[in-house]
Amino acid sequence: MSIIIDTDPGIDDAIAILYALNHPEQEVTAMTTVAGNIGLSVTTRNAGRICALAQVDVPVHAGAAAPLGKEANPELGIHGTDGLGGVVFPEPLSPPAGTDGVGAMAAALMAHPPQSVDLFCLGPLTNLALLLDRAPEAAKRIRRVIAMGGAVKEPGNVGPKAEFNIAHDPHAAAAVFVAGLPLTLIPLDATRQLRADRSYIKALRETGAVAAIASADLIDAYFAATNGAESRPLHDPCVPLLAQHPELFRMEAHDLSVDLETGALVAGEHTIKVAMGVNVQGARAALLHGLSF
Ligand code: RIB
Ligand code: CA
Repeated sequence: MSIIIDTDPGIDDAIAILYALNHPEQEVTAMTTVAGNIGLSVTTRNAGRICALAQVDVPVHAGAAAPLGKEANPELGIHGTDGLGGVVFPEPLSPPAGTDGVGAMAAALMAHPPQSVDLFCLGPLTNLALLLDRAPEAAKRIRRVIAMGGAVKEPGNVGPKAEFNIAHDPHAAAAVFVAGLPLTLIPLDATRQLRADRSYIKALRETGAVAAIASADLIDAYFAATNGAESRPLHDPCVPLLAQHPELFRMEAHDLSVDLETGALVAGEHTIKVAMGVNVQGARAALLHGLSF
């Protein structure tokens, strides 16, 4: 099975990508970047840096530099100005493969058999919304979209009910929700349960593995961005974990739409598969194992 990762790295994106790259049975055929946590040039460079650390040369294509109809609004407070919390990563093995991420997404989908490519969405859904508009025949070939975003019963993280990925580009999210894609959404309701504390950082370091140690450094930086927190939520790693270990997630069906003003999820007409819970011990163990080789 092949994967396209659409991402705004981003500390937790980086951990998710390192985990995904460590599973050769799931070939990451391309990465597309989006402005979100940080601006597009930084997220694109970071995607290349993460691949360089993993010593895997995945083509990285820069995608949307701003949300649909809005200005970009990065979240510097958590991810730092370099988007990786200042953690030292190598330079990309090669320059970006292109600056048309949506076109690259379409080309990859057309080059693979129908329903053989999963799309992991770790940031705002701008690129997927543009794909639906520009290349609907390619979008139809997606086997499954797994997206981190939203808050169903949980409070938001950028507003009372708004979560960053959805709220950063609510028009894109609304277009994705109505498109009838095979979409699985992992909101804060599940991702806030998967937390890394200091003992988890220690366990990562004790593996001695490059991806695990880098993840420990990233979580340390994540802690530095918030004073006194006992643990930090691992939002984006839930995406590749659900792909690899669906049994760890409790799924519900919710009829959802998006409030275009606030970016909050609201009751809507389209039924979406939503991960509302996770087997925390199982997911922590699977993530640790998946980063430790
Ligand atoms: O709300 C969490 C999401 O916003 C994660 O994808 C994180 O990387 C940020 O993009
Ligand atoms: Ca992200």
